[in-house]
Amino acid sequence: MNNKERKNHQYKAHSAEILDLKDLSYDTRYFKVKFVDPNIQEKLGEYKPGQFAIFSIPGVGEAPFSISSTPTRQSFLEFGIRKVGSITEALYKLKIGDKFDIRGPYGNGFEMDKMKDHDLIIVSGGLGAVPLRSLLLYACDKREDFKNVYFLNGARTPEDMLFREDFMAMHQREMLETHLTVDEDPKGDWPYHIGVVTKLFEKIADRVNNKNTYAIMCGPPIMYKFVIKELLKLKIPKEKIFMTLERRMKCGQGHCGHCAIGGVYTCLDGPVFTYWDIERLKELI
Ligand SMILES: Cc1cc2nc3c(=O)[nH]c(=O)nc-3n(C[C@H](O)[C@H](O)[C@H](O)COP(=O)(O)OP(=O)(O)OC[C@H]3O[C@@H](n4cnc5c(N)ncnc54)[C@H](O)[C@@H]3O)c2cc1C
Ligand code: FES
Repeated sequence: MNNKERKNHQYKAHSAEILDLKDLSYDTRYFKVKFVDPNIQEKLGEYKPGQFAIFSIPGVGEAPFSISSTPTRQSFLEFGIRKVGSITEALYKLKIGDKFDIRGPYGNGFEMDKMKDHDLIIVSGGLGAVPLRSLLLYACDKREDFKNVYFLNGARTPEDMLFREDFMAMHQREMLETHLTVDEDPKGDWPYHIGVVTKLFEKIADRVNNKNTYAIMCGPPIMYKFVIKELLKLKIPKEKIFMTLERRMKCGQGHCGHCAIGGVYTCLDGPVFTYWDIERLKELI
């Protein structure tokens, strides 16, 4: 498919069927879907980690959600959705086998080719695990493309850690160097680290090769400030620090201006930005 054909498909909404649903935490649910038309599934399965899709619920509205699956496994798409308002409430009423419309993929996503042959430090907090899971699974499936991959993930409590089983399995399989932490462990049975996510840098700092490393983060805005501090201490260049940002979006295609800030359209130029971009456009965070 050439780029023009792909763009035409991106602008249209296509019917998708729910294949699986699972609660990831008390307020976040996993959705596994596939486009009803296998042709569309094949074509739109060529997304990049870090891109997002827009869901349409008739009579309720539209909202963007990060793609959490990896393009290396093209027969379905996965999402993690937190219930916060009318669209997400309507999505929570759907059952396996129900259909709704999806358009996309949108946004710039991560430049996976640039990251090839580098070490990666992937840092996520809370809901930030949803978009970064796409990158993690991609790195697992294309392990030979990357050198050391360090994954640092934090959540408030073990119950709040999204994709907890997947990440524990990653820790056990040792394909990626995985470090998991929680701020608090109310039940007292958490087998990994306790403390904020930035404390996990102690476990990798002496092995980080700042000449050959990309760092990628996604999480609550407060986390960014402290993670950036740790990365700058390790002398990771600003243009090699990536973060994925959420801003209010409507069209996802650069038409409505909802997401524009200082001439930057976060739906087109983002949601992935470098720390270099953020420094020049402070309102982005
Ligand atoms: C690029 C992108 C990717 C996203 N990926 C995901 C994802 O993977 N999983 C997920 O659960 N959500 C994600 N979101 C957020 C999701 O789009 C919103 O939560 C959505 O608006 C919910 O719609 P709603 O009608 O249920 O709630 P609304 O009625 O729109 O909002 C309910 C509450 O959430 C707040 N809110 C809504 N959107 C945002 C936002 N972008 N940032 C901060 N607060 C917000 C509102 O102010 C309000 O308080 C993403 C947003 C963007 C822009
Ligand atoms: S969401 Fe419409 S211009 Fe970005």
